Amino acid sequence: MVYNFATKVFTARFRRMHDLTTHILNRLADEKNFLSGERLCQEFGITRSAVWKHIRLIRRDGYQIEAVTGRGYRLSAMTGRPVEAEVLPFLKCRYLGKQIDYHPIATSTNLLAKAMAVAGAPEGCIVVADAQSGGKGRMGRVWHSPPGVNLYCSLILRPAVPSIRVPQLTLLLAAAIHRALLELSPELEAMIKWPNDILVNGKKLCGVLCEMQSEPDLTHFVVAGIGINVNQSEISPELKGSATSLILERGELFSRPSLLALILNHFEPLYDEWLLQDDLTFVLPALESCALLQSKEVTIDQRNRILSGTVTGIAKGGELKLRCADGEALLVSSGEAHLRKQEL
Ligand code: BTN
Repeated sequence: MVYNFATKVFTARFRRMHDLTTHILNRLADEKNFLSGERLCQEFGITRSAVWKHIRLIRRDGYQIEAVTGRGYRLSAMTGRPVEAEVLPFLKCRYLGKQIDYHPIATSTNLLAKAMAVAGAPEGCIVVADAQSGGKGRMGRVWHSPPGVNLYCSLILRPAVPSIRVPQLTLLLAAAIHRALLELSPELEAMIKWPNDILVNGKKLCGVLCEMQSEPDLTHFVVAGIGINVNQSEISPELKGSATSLILERGELFSRPSLLALILNHFEPLYDEWLLQDDLTFVLPALESCALLQSKEVTIDQRNRILSGTVTGIAKGGELKLRCADGEALLVSSGEAHLRKQEL
């Protein structure tokens, strides 16, 4: 990570945003036993009545905190929201997800993360929302973001690579999300649909939207937005045939905090390796083993033209390898892939 002046200024501001209430909640979440009021006063340099005020605020946020005379406070139940205090216990990363900026509602986490990145937010910061009013999908589409059920998050990355390599990050993230989903639910038949979707039983469960600010030889930052339908038990009528959720596929509720942590746990080592390599060669076998389009007949909508052919694999640069009807081999770097009718 390049630690420059802007990063320092941002970090100081971010710390202030992360107010004392969040720190006290994180401390309680970290502690299995009771924490005395006295101890909290000492650790945070505040008075007894201030401790009580913060405990009230934490409770107002939906947390159950036991208060026992002579023993102190203990967090007895989590809310299931993907907030820092609930994600950190599952997180095994060195630098990803150490700062989670949670919003009960955001326009789009990608928009907020971009603003934070411009202000100097360090690599690994994450913006998470419980709902989005303007969730963005690829190709200008809307990402439906109802409250309280799904995962909407954006990760700030600052890869020191030429911008031409950045599209590979979408596939790298898809590989990490695929691994995280299988760790959470080993029976899930999830497949990666090049370049950015994860599907289960032919329906979309997850989408990735990477946006960047760069010059040709220099990537300033990447905002990697991830949307996963987790505990949404009803899909809107217009998406019913094409979208699904974890709860609909597996019939049980899933923890959003642990899913987010698992994604980061799987992504960090892949990202570290990718930064050392020139391309995706090291992860191609994993990507191809769960590639929905492998050996399928597809059409690729590139807006100004439609390509069609048989998918023969994924290239080390992340492009889709396509063999056209006339035998020509193409490397397709962008577009929306559709399975041809007979493949459905
Ligand atoms: C796609 O079209 O498949 C990409 C969808 C990406 C949605 C996520 S939700 C979190 C982040 N914020 C956004 O506005 N979009 C991404």
